[in-house]
Amino acid sequence: MKMTNRWNRIIYSLWAPVYDRTVNRFFTPGRKRAMEMLALQPGERVLIVGVGTGTDLPLIPEGVEAVGIDLSPAMLARAQARLPLPGREVTLIQGDAQQLQVEEGRFDAVLFNLILSVIPDGAACLRENLRALKPGGRAVIFDKFLPDDGKLSLGRRLLNLGSTFFGTDITRRFNHLADGCHIAILKNEPSLAGGAYRVILVRSLENKNERETPVYSNISRG
Ligand SMILES: C[S@@+](CC[C@H](N)C(=O)[O-])C[C@H]1O[C@@H](n2cnc3c(N)ncnc32)[C@H](O)[C@@H]1O
Repeated sequence: MKMTNRWNRIIYSLWAPVYDRTVNRFFTPGRKRAMEMLALQPGERVLIVGVGTGTDLPLIPEGVEAVGIDLSPAMLARAQARLPLPGREVTLIQGDAQQLQVEEGRFDAVLFNLILSVIPDGAACLRENLRALKPGGRAVIFDKFLPDDGKLSLGRRLLNLGSTFFGTDITRRFNHLADGCHIAILKNEPSLAGGAYRVILVRSLENKNERETPVYSNISRG
């Protein structure tokens, strides 16, 4: 099933009341590692793409300013219910993260937790929101990806029919999504489900001539 914003709005309005009590619990270790890798410092500004029910918001250190974007009003209402958070200034925006919704070059860091496998066009989402970074800024991605060079089996294709119905695609590869993005991949760690989930740290390259260092870009399991 093709992922669309229309379906995502419907399926995430159904997920919203139960998300935190069910699937979200499974993600806690990956979420914590993603925040640790992002290493936010007081005085910095972070963009959270697909902020959902706002589980990441309490993990943000005090003194950091955050902007969260999500398509689903139902998910955002849950995030809003967490506010205010002492010591953090948080703004929530309802919008489509396939297009940049904030001012370009204004953020020190961007967090993409469990969004690139959900949004219809993951490559556009990554590319657009990286534009929010200041030169040299960093981003962390926590999500599930196929290995760069792994074969897409028929079984996985069939499974994907079910998983896209529930609002997530299990056939995406990070190297495809990142193709054409001017970034260096600094870390790419295995996370949950035997490494099917990854925590990836990238840096926006300051000038287009800077040599990319696609270290660890080849995702293999383990
Ligand atoms: C699996 S949830 C993850 C939420 C949150 N990042 C987390 O870590 O718990 C995916 C989120 O992506 C949002 N989403 C789907 N399509 C979107 C789009 N086009 N623009 C912005 N958010 C979108 C959904 O509404 C949902 O809240």
